[in-house]
Amino acid sequence: MNGKGHLIKPHYLSLKPFIRWQGAGRPARWREEFGRSAPLVVEIGFGLGDFLVRQAREEPEKDFVGLEVDWVPVRRALRKISLAGVPNVRVLKVDARVGLEMLFNEQSVTAAYSLFPCPWPKKRHAKHRLLSHDFLRLLNNRLVFGGETIMVTDHRPFQDWVLSQTPGTGFSTETELTTRRFVTKYERKWQAMGQEKFHLLRMTKREHMTAPIKEDRTMITHRISRFDPERFRFPADSGNMVVGMKEMLYDAERLKGMVRTVVVEDNLLQDFWIEIVKIDEAWRIRPAKGCGIIPTAGVQRALDLVRDAAAM
Ligand SMILES: C[S@@+](CC[C@H](N)C(=O)[O-])C[C@H]1O[C@@H](n2cnc3c(N)ncnc32)[C@H](O)[C@@H]1O
Repeated sequence: MNGKGHLIKPHYLSLKPFIRWQGAGRPARWREEFGRSAPLVVEIGFGLGDFLVRQAREEPEKDFVGLEVDWVPVRRALRKISLAGVPNVRVLKVDARVGLEMLFNEQSVTAAYSLFPCPWPKKRHAKHRLLSHDFLRLLNNRLVFGGETIMVTDHRPFQDWVLSQTPGTGFSTETELTTRRFVTKYERKWQAMGQEKFHLLRMTKREHMTAPIKEDRTMITHRISRFDPERFRFPADSGNMVVGMKEMLYDAERLKGMVRTVVVEDNLLQDFWIEIVKIDEAWRIRPAKGCGIIPTAGVQRALDLVRDAAAM
């Protein structure tokens, strides 16, 4: 509201096309979401959303889902979707690896686009490159037979690297030199810097790869008989996931402790609070309400660690 009582329009205009992936099904119910059964197209790292919105407008018979890891591009794409009034597009703020793993059934996607993905040219950054062998296998699994993944880059060595990842992913590959065609921010950027030709890699699904849907876990919360916040020490952890405890708040009146916890596992980072709260005669240890966690093995590990630390 402004001072005169008028509602100020947020930058994104409407959140209706936005899906909070944490709350979506495993897989998400796309038919219900779009209210119809239509070919599903996924764009990975859609940036400002120009291509996503234009495609949705030009191909109203298809449904489009954009996966983008940063909020600012999502916000700007939301604005474009509202201004264009396209009903057949949804966007999620999620790492594409997590999104594809959890939200799409096998053989449910007809095409996928990755336009000007970050090439991470330095060797020591290669682990950040998205279109790795494992990711391509996952993409393959979610695509229908004959479905295509189109990747475009300004950077030939990056295309060569993606090509080197394709053996054993069930894709046949075709490369093409293309001129301006997708009209995205990065295409415009490279064009403004004098680049006329871009490298297009078309990967067509020929064989089916296995890659099961990643399910949520059932969380086991804890109950301990004694808890002394003065004696609480942040636990150290190791292993293939990182669980870190950042701070602890304690409200002596409400008999409630809150431990800020960060869990990193695979490609997923979760930053949330674990509460230690006195209910009847016992202290309950559980994720605090409203944090919107995904119940993963890492979150379970964090609960176990807090229980051990709190019970000491
Ligand atoms: C170089 S920009 C290209 C954006 C847009 N496709 C274009 O052509 O203008 C790469 C985009 O991919 C997004 N991105 C990077 N890694 C991602 C991931 N793992 N999952 C989803 N999006 C990702 C970045 O946030 C960024 O918006």
